[in-house]
Amino acid sequence: MHERLDALRETLEAHGQAHVLRFAEELDEEQSSQLASQLESLDFARLSALIKTALKGPDDATSEDVGADSLQPPRVLDWGIDEDRDTLARQAGAELLSAGKVGAFLVAGGQGTRLGYDGPKGRFPVGPLTNRTLFAFHAQRVLATSRRYGAKLPFYIMTSRVNHEDTRNAFEEAHWFGLDPAQVFFLQQGMLPAITSDGKLLLSTRSSLSLSPDGHGGCFRALRESGALEDMESRGLEQLFYFQVDNPLAQVLDPLFVGHHAMERAEMSTKVVDKTDPAEKVGVLALREGKTCLLEYSDLPDQLAEARDADGRLRFRAGNIAIHMLTVDFLRQIATRDELPVHRASKKVPCLDEKGDRVVPDEPNAVKMEMFVFDALPLAQRSVTQVVLREDEFSPVKNAEGSDSPATCTAALSEQAKRWMASAGLAVPDGVAEIGPLFALDQEEFRANLTRGDFGPMFDRPA
Ligand code: UD1
Repeated sequence: MHERLDALRETLEAHGQAHVLRFAEELDEEQSSQLASQLESLDFARLSALIKTALKGPDDATSEDVGADSLQPPRVLDWGIDEDRDTLARQAGAELLSAGKVGAFLVAGGQGTRLGYDGPKGRFPVGPLTNRTLFAFHAQRVLATSRRYGAKLPFYIMTSRVNHEDTRNAFEEAHWFGLDPAQVFFLQQGMLPAITSDGKLLLSTRSSLSLSPDGHGGCFRALRESGALEDMESRGLEQLFYFQVDNPLAQVLDPLFVGHHAMERAEMSTKVVDKTDPAEKVGVLALREGKTCLLEYSDLPDQLAEARDADGRLRFRAGNIAIHMLTVDFLRQIATRDELPVHRASKKVPCLDEKGDRVVPDEPNAVKMEMFVFDALPLAQRSVTQVVLREDEFSPVKNAEGSDSPATCTAALSEQAKRWMASAGLAVPDGVAEIGPLFALDQEEFRANLTRGDFGPMFDRPA
């Protein structure tokens, strides 16, 4: 047998995983070395511990499992209630941005399975008139914000093995969307193996494990191991603005949120929208023993999802839009402790059976393990939960059709453009409209930047 595989046998046996070498004798040099590289990239002591915890948890959470009795709705900073405080926050945010102390962090390592799009989700076109991609929206916001505050703000992008090269290529082909390449830092998250219900690793081929990205919670480890954390330290960064690839309305590096988070001396903060449909697939924020935490929609028992206040609004309505601020200090602490819990999901994973025949299951046959970034929230000493307007900040692309689809997202971008046009006194077109981030990042800037030639439905500026 290939000597690298031979060297791994003892460790695999100690962890009850030696079955992955079942076909090793049949592999050629290249295949052996592929399997060896995958196995060498796994830390088996950590993996065995993760598997143990993952298999312990329940599949469908009940009110008891989530400790429903000890949960309260979170304290929130409501949108537009205290204008003086908002003004101070905007100033504080602007100061941090002008001093170059804030970076943007995009998580884009997911597989985008629900959308069924072949390629990194960020390449997906959503611009109502321009087909501008998700990556372009995000990168142009970083560029426009950097210009507005006169500081080249760094942009960290987390990918995974499934889309790393393609993501880099998307940026290169687009000439970095006008950003200085030195502003952009790509990092790859880790992978975790799919396992059977008794904790055995699955093979996808004779020379390959079935691996998938370790969840956005893998970002802490990835930021540390890739050198991104050091890069932040060398740039004197203090704060990081975290967001997801699927939402082109995300107001990346929004000074108001940056400022509220900084003024409260929070370690990790979250933007939320008012959840009105109990079945909407967003996590909700809550308070447990005074600490902010997040209950993921898949773990939220119906009884809690449907509970209402006396005024008829959902009791747990602080819907997570997955936009966070984190201090770099807090990030470092979490990355060093490396102990976020692991979540499990039952999935249908094509794999090899004992004889080496490929099986494509009709029913879930495997458990995938993932870590979630929001599990860091209860570890923060202080946290701000800021309510924002859904129509201005949240319209993700998740599904091919129906809710949260390209159609709803494109419509939301167009509606926002039309609201800004109306507020500036322009005639609103019957069809669609679009405002590029380089033309304006918000309604005030839109009004201020209008010239006599700008009357719609397309507002843009070249990079
Ligand atoms: C997520 C949140 C949910 C929130 C909703 C808002 C989770 C578990 N839940 O749900 O609380 O209300 O967004 O839109 O995330 N990603 C990685 N690496 C991975 C997995 C995902 O970078 O290993 C990235 C994806 O590229 C994407 C984001 O994380 O940008 C969200 O992933 P997704 O699985 O689509 O989350 P949702 O289930 O929609």
